[in-house]
Order: sequence, then C-alpha cells, then structure tokens
Amino acid sequence: MDNAIELPEELQDYIFASSEPVHLVVRRIIAETQAMPERSMQITPDEAIFLRAMVRLIRPTAILEIGTFTGLSSLIMAGALVDGGRMTCLDISDEFTAIARQAWAEAGVADRIDLIIGPALESMARLDGPFQLVFIDADKENLQAYVEAVTPKVPQGGVVMVDNTLWRRQVITDDAAASTVTIRAFNQWLVAHPAFDVEMIGIADGLTLAIKK
Ligand SMILES: C[S@@+](CC[C@H](N)C(=O)[O-])C[C@H]1O[C@@H](n2cnc3c(N)ncnc32)[C@H](O)[C@@H]1O
Repeated sequence: MDNAIELPEELQDYIFASSEPVHLVVRRIIAETQAMPERSMQITPDEAIFLRAMVRLIRPTAILEIGTFTGLSSLIMAGALVDGGRMTCLDISDEFTAIARQAWAEAGVADRIDLIIGPALESMARLDGPFQLVFIDADKENLQAYVEAVTPKVPQGGVVMVDNTLWRRQVITDDAAASTVTIRAFNQWLVAHPAFDVEMIGIADGLTLAIKK
C-alpha cells in the first residue's frame, strides 16, 4: 500500500466503521500482509470497500481476478457474491496464495473460489466466461493483453476493473521508466477502446473501470 494515495489510519478505520461490517479475517489479512516486505502489492482498505460495493451493485454470478496475492481483494469480493456466485482467481505464486487459501477457508468462502496457479494469460485461454466483473491486478507488462483476452468473455454491462493506473502518480510526470511508459500507453489505449466506456477513479493507486458497451 505504500505506493497508493493513502488515507490516514484513523480515516481507514472510520470508513470500515461506517460501512457494512467486514469479516475479522479481512482485518487479519490486512495486518498480516502489511507486515510483509511485499506489502505494497496489497490493495488499500478503502479500495477493498469499493470493490465490495461493485459486487453489490453489479451482482455478478462470476468474477474473474487476475492477481490474488494474499487474498484481500478476493476475500472481500467473494464474501459479497450472490448465492451460487463463483469467483475464479489467477496467480503465479503458490507461496502468496497459500495465505489467501487459508483466509478464504477461515472466512467460509473457499467453496466459492477456484484458484488457478500459472501465468494468467495461459490460464485465461482455458476459461470460457462469461464474467460480469473482472479485476486486473497482476504484472503490468501484460495489462493490454489481459484486457484483450478477457473482452470476449465479458457481457454487455460487465465491468473490467484495472488497478494501479495512476502508477504512484508517475503517469503525470516525465518519468521514462519502462513501467510508467507502459501504463501511460495502456491508459491511452483503453480510453479509446471501442468496446468500453472507460472511467478512471482516483482511489488508492488509481482504479480504472471499463464498462462493456
Ligand atoms: C498486486 S498483487 C495482487 C494484490 C491482490 N489483488 C490483493 O488484494 O492483495 C499482484 C499479484 O500478481 C501475481 N502475478 C504477477 N505476474 C503474474 C502472471 N504473469 N500471472 C499471474 N499472476 C501474476 C503476483 O504473484 C501477485 O500475487
């Protein structure tokens, strides 16, 4: 979370206290992950609430997540699924997702989640969809490829959410790092995509919503 537009802890707490209750496991996975060296990969708590709101609004029967890590985004979204709803999670790391698996079991959502370990593009090729809600939060080099691969699997009105599109605000600087150049180009490409209405939300490290026309 160090990379994101961070809210002070008291505000994060207030946001939790003023929203539907979150499972104790959600709080534990935040605390546990924030003690890890890779903590900046975790979504922010206010973003977690936003993702849950998206699930409540869209009421997807199938969610696809690309980039699961220790499980915060999947935990919060799977917990808000309608009865019978399913979530497919893709990641390359057995180590990180072992933590997620444990959290899903403790929170009672493990039976709604299918985890596929491997490079996400390969896993996606074997999935039919449809997915009414997609969350892309993995390696940034493949952002465009992920959107291209998932587009035919998203129905009209479905939403593809892409994380980190502000890239620690580097997108508005003259930073020439490869990652920054990639994300700037991706943002330009996505906003011009004919299949989507695109809205960038200034939450956390930037979350872009691409709504299928
Ligand atoms: C930013 S973290 C995801 C954070 C997570 N959504 C959360 O709520 O905490 C990115 C994850 O993408 C995974 N990843 C990176 N490259 C990948 C690839 N090519 N295919 C699948 N997963 C990948 C990493 O192992 C890591 O767990």
